[in-house]
Amino acid sequence: MQLDLTGKVALVTGGGRGIGRAIAQALAAAGAVVVVNYRGNAATADETVATISAAGGTATMVQADVADGTAVEGLVKATITAHGRLDILVNNAGITRDTLLMRMRDEDFDQVVGTNLRGVFLCTRAVLRQMSKQRNGRIINIASVIGIIGNAGQTNYAAAKAGIIGFTRATAREIAARNVTVNAVAPGFIATEMTDALTDDTRKAILARIPLGRLGQPAEVAQLVTFLASDAAAYITGQTFTIDGGMVMQ
Ligand code: NAI
Repeated sequence: MQLDLTGKVALVTGGGRGIGRAIAQALAAAGAVVVVNYRGNAATADETVATISAAGGTATMVQADVADGTAVEGLVKATITAHGRLDILVNNAGITRDTLLMRMRDEDFDQVVGTNLRGVFLCTRAVLRQMSKQRNGRIINIASVIGIIGNAGQTNYAAAKAGIIGFTRATAREIAARNVTVNAVAPGFIATEMTDALTDDTRKAILARIPLGRLGQPAEVAQLVTFLASDAAAYITGQTFTIDGGMVMQ
């Protein structure tokens, strides 16, 4: 299947590395003009943009903390001013602050929910007017299988990711009449800097639970996101797609 995003403008939050970078690269390879959002590390965002340009694509970068409402309004405004439209939003930015619940500090909970869930709310709200006006749009939220099955030590992250799934369904219902689709992608364990932090024992335990016997690659998640962003996925909304080597089967 040839997925063509020529003429589309895409905004990818947290696009400086990992899954976000792979998504930005895949959307650009399919022809979209991509705005790479980053919070603090301009050098890695610049690297994402450079790899896209080197491959013949078009990308720019815009700094903003997705947990900051004013910054998010500025990010969306900058995107629309620069490119005249906004067709695809990928809410990818995310953090973890893992610890057992009994030891979890208020700020561990607030920061994880603030970036992972509130960030999705702020970015989605900020793009809806433009997408409604265009009578066309694609919103793809990066959740996690942890939001479906839970994980000891990740109550904050599981709550935020499960929240994204509910938010996706409610937003999909609210905005469907404007021809804007909203879906979630729930990756399992993907080889990025987030999972590099795992100990060898944890990694072994995780691999034992994955029928396909390996971690996923960021590019594999990016292919699914590109499909959901394309015209080929026009009749899909409010869904959550797990991409996890078979770890969670439902
Ligand atoms: P990563 O840590 O490599 O990348 C996350 C990116 O988000 C970084 O560039 C970071 O700077 C950015 N970011 C963090 N807070 C931000 C903020 N407030 N504003 C703007 N940008 C911010 O992580 P990875 O692995 O690439 O994860 C990407 C998404 O996929 C996250 O939402 C994560 O929860 C999710 N995910 C990752 C899995 C994995 O196994 N790596 C599995 C399931 C979900």
